[in-house]
Amino acid sequence: MSSSTAITNIATLVTNDPSLGDDSPLGLIQDAAVVIEGDRVTWTGESSKAPATDNRVDAGGRAVLPGFVDSHSHLLFAGDRTAEFNARMSGRPYSAGGIRTTVAATRAASDDDLERNLVRHLAEALRQGTTTFETKSGYGLTVEDEARALRIAAAHTDEVTYLGAHIVPPDLADDPAAYVALVTGEMLDACAPYARWIDVFCEKGAFDGDQARAVLTAGKARGLTPRVHANQLSYGPGVQLAVELDAASADHCTHLTDADVDALAHSRTVATLLPGAEFSTRAEWPDARRLLDAGVTVALSTDCNPGSSYTSSVPFCVALAVRDMGMTPDEAVWSATAGGAAALRRDDIGRLRPGARADLVVLDAPSHVHLAYRPGVPLVTQVWRGGRREF
Ligand code: NIG
Ligand code: FE
Repeated sequence: MSSSTAITNIATLVTNDPSLGDDSPLGLIQDAAVVIEGDRVTWTGESSKAPATDNRVDAGGRAVLPGFVDSHSHLLFAGDRTAEFNARMSGRPYSAGGIRTTVAATRAASDDDLERNLVRHLAEALRQGTTTFETKSGYGLTVEDEARALRIAAAHTDEVTYLGAHIVPPDLADDPAAYVALVTGEMLDACAPYARWIDVFCEKGAFDGDQARAVLTAGKARGLTPRVHANQLSYGPGVQLAVELDAASADHCTHLTDADVDALAHSRTVATLLPGAEFSTRAEWPDARRLLDAGVTVALSTDCNPGSSYTSSVPFCVALAVRDMGMTPDEAVWSATAGGAAALRRDDIGRLRPGARADLVVLDAPSHVHLAYRPGVPLVTQVWRGGRREF
């Protein structure tokens, strides 16, 4: 039998299970403890009632919350796009075409370079409290380059997404239909064994609604579940398509009609908001308030990529969502934990309740609200993943 550990003297515990706490969506418990056995949580409640355990760790009156679930990132890339960012901050608009710069650098990189870059960003994310992450291909855009990106990703996470349909690569710019045929044919065959999800960038300058539907239905037929880059730079068919195909998530959701919001509200497709992208492209913010008021499930993620959102920090995204997208601190923290889990259709993460994976973050603050109240401050002081203390 594995030994048991109690983390005690927690000022505020976020369980994300209303039945365990104060009936709010965050299921808050004050003066709390969490008991871990093996890789699971076995008990949560008031510290004074904690059962006897083999080990005890005193949280010192700090806050504990589930590890962040970053359900949207693009970490299989090489190079950076500092010059493009600089140009944008001098007034140049963002466009999907910048992806080509990263495609060239990624194709030129060795497997080792790609993996080293991935591992470096994962370490950075863990330091900021991310215990589960999804990541995508999309900067290779040949059969070999997409498959190797996914093979490398699959060695580090179960949440791997095939994004062969990121843009039409320059070499096939004159024949998008041929590229869609490749993405839904030979490339899909090579990539499906490494992936759980299939994604498409449904946007002007990338793939239109019909092309996106072809990509996602081919992926579904191969057992992959859709998620969609939808309505990021302009209004379009992405969100409706995501709902129609029962995608796990429609990501970005920056330009939404009332019909888009309504479709999301009547579906099980999560709206994943990625404020790092609006920050780094000086674009208008997605309206989280409108989505939440309509009853849509909202996730918050980093979209970490070298072009539109080069941040691995979920706490930064929480602060932006509270300041600029109409979310309360409670809502933003829920979306970055339980919301991310919903976007990955997982119920073993994003909550601290008996049976859940023991993935948790200790903040050097008395409550989770400090994530937004103290933006930019490195509050994550301890991370446990699968019952193991990482630091
Ligand atoms: O999610 N929108 C499409 N893909 C990325 C951007 C990729 C890039 O600019 O390199 C995104 O923002
Ligand atoms: Fe993205």
